[in-house]
Amino acid sequence: MEKTANQSILPISAKINDKGNLEIGGCDVIELAQKYDTPLYVYDEATIKSICNSYKTAFEKYKNFQPMFASKAFMTKYMCKLMQKEGFGLDVVSGGELYTAIKSGFDMSKIVFNGNNKSIDELEMALDNNIGRISVDNFLELALLDNLAKSKNKNIDIFLRITPGIECHTHEYIQTGHLDSKFGFDLTQLDEAVELVKEQYTSLNIKGLHAHIGSQIFETQVYYDVVEVILKEMARIKEKHSIELQEMNIGGGLGITYTENDTPPSINEIAEVILDSLESNSKKYGINSPKLYIEPGRSIVGTAGATIYTVGSSKQVPNGKKYVALDGGMSDNPRPSMYQAIYTAVVADKVHSDDKEIVTLAGKHCESGDIIIKDIELPKLEEGDIVCVFNTGAYGYSMSSNYNRVLKPCAVTVQNGQSSVIIKRETYDELISHDVIPDYLS
Ligand code: LLP
Repeated sequence: MEKTANQSILPISAKINDKGNLEIGGCDVIELAQKYDTPLYVYDEATIKSICNSYKTAFEKYKNFQPMFASKAFMTKYMCKLMQKEGFGLDVVSGGELYTAIKSGFDMSKIVFNGNNKSIDELEMALDNNIGRISVDNFLELALLDNLAKSKNKNIDIFLRITPGIECHTHEYIQTGHLDSKFGFDLTQLDEAVELVKEQYTSLNIKGLHAHIGSQIFETQVYYDVVEVILKEMARIKEKHSIELQEMNIGGGLGITYTENDTPPSINEIAEVILDSLESNSKKYGINSPKLYIEPGRSIVGTAGATIYTVGSSKQVPNGKKYVALDGGMSDNPRPSMYQAIYTAVVADKVHSDDKEIVTLAGKHCESGDIIIKDIELPKLEEGDIVCVFNTGAYGYSMSSNYNRVLKPCAVTVQNGQSSVIIKRETYDELISHDVIPDYLS
């Protein structure tokens, strides 16, 4: 079956140019470093578009289909604009993500608001801006939302988020669909939730069920299973409460290729499994085929993004490791220290050098665990070399911090030899702009 871009380590436009340098989106990575300084996030627009196309074509034959981008993976006004152009909706999980979408002029009817503890202010923002769907996670939220909606004389379309009880083999922190999870209604609580909406929370209109099974998934069977669990519940709800739900949202989760050991399925492969499950289980449970929403995040932006760093100091531990320090680290990419995530890198101006050694790429933060890549074989590094770490496009910038008061990097998008800033580099004045010295100390 045809490969899709989530199965490659490199962004699709990456190549070695005439100068022998790494090029992404037609832009020489060394020149990008000179122009914008480092650390720098570089997003290959061609890869993002190619992935979006793969999703659209893989599900083409299922007419009632709405792909959404899980904006938590990389949320900026640029992404909103690009996703809107691609016909994708958005999954948002906070007031901040919602605000970004609003300010970018996103079509509100194509936004789903997820999250296990939305505040009243956040729900209000969603209602005031006529958001498409709210995925209600728990009993408190049902009550709050109904109350707010009634006070505003509005009716709201919702999903009920469920915990489908499906385990997938990924890092424990990024599993969400197994039974012992903080997200969603347990299946045993679903009847009560439906009953409450029917009898009491009359401003809420249940359009369908929503589940998300986890992230960085390599198995296809879990997608078959989640569709089946949802259809089975829809059939039960129809039978027991005479409510015919029309929609299902099966979340995101498709994995990407951080290293050669990662073997995610293609988008076509998961689409085939999902559509097969929809067809056979709709028949099995006597349900009309519902509208299908998916909300991938990592697979849309992960492969597209790379981070470029400049090499600084190095240290050879006698009879031990050689550490080479980069000018960023856990503040621009906390994933290695949080999840033991493993990445692949090249030296942008020495891609073909045979003079190699095994080094550990360390960050610049005051923390021993601040390592970007452990024990990687790279051409011998010298101060000033430019290292490019691949697959940082998802959950890199989104989880970045100012730890050690390190400034957040700039992000650019590249295509056809053009680079454009999509996030400006933070300045020291911006960094301290929220600090307040109380009167008694000034
Ligand atoms: N939908 C819901 C309800 C989610 O909770 C998530 C991710 C997604 C969609 C998108 O999943 P994706 O397609 O990106 O796998 N920070 C972690 C990942 C946490 C994912 C949380 N939820 C990491 O860096 O690996």
